[in-house]
Amino acid sequence: MPIIAPSLLASNFLRLEDECKMINQSEAEWFHLDVMDGRFVPNISFGLPVIEQIRTATSKILDVHLMIEEPEKYIEAFAKAGANILTVHIEACRNLHRNIQHIKALGMKAGVAVNPHTPIHLLVDIIADVDLVNLMSVNPGFGGQKFIPYTLTKITQLSNMIKDRGLNVDIEIDGGVTIDNAKSIIDSGANVLVAGNTVFKSAYPINTIAALKRL
Ligand code: DX5
Ligand code: ZN
Repeated sequence: MPIIAPSLLASNFLRLEDECKMINQSEAEWFHLDVMDGRFVPNISFGLPVIEQIRTATSKILDVHLMIEEPEKYIEAFAKAGANILTVHIEACRNLHRNIQHIKALGMKAGVAVNPHTPIHLLVDIIADVDLVNLMSVNPGFGGQKFIPYTLTKITQLSNMIKDRGLNVDIEIDGGVTIDNAKSIIDSGANVLVAGNTVFKSAYPINTIAALKRL
């Protein structure tokens, strides 16, 4: 069964505590937290103080997705805020290997995210060092966008790269995941589904999470 990571970007921030309680009661294993700086992506979301508060509301895994320039400047701060998984974009890192080692040295799992235009083969020399690859299936910056179908081909390429090397790396799909396309995503080789609008805009989010787990 896939790991489900509801993206709080689509939640009601005025009722954040209730939204956290809902995820706590659900079968979702991770909280997906999207940090945007208005520079790497054309949108600004939330940052450290909000994540510190969420940390006090759950013991589940905090999966923090940094869509920011110069993420290396904030690795320690996100560790202190309580991130369990910290993901940086390959397009934002000049020294990705150093940044990945830094994340792991602080006791977090390390992820690398790739934009839709970034080819999978660029991961060959870093794949053995990461715990997770976030394959963006929309252009980062906004929730509620349409899934880019070519992502399925990229999932297969990435899954083969991981298998060929005998590695254990999570493949997380982020953007436009719905009840309708989730099965094809899992069948292609992904094992973590991020879901924002599909979960939070549904009538019964807990049931939607359960449905995503059983496709
Ligand atoms: C997009 C974010 C996603 C987003 C997904 O930049 O990285 O995590 O919240 O939202 P949905 O599932 O609504 O496409
Ligand atoms: Zn994300």
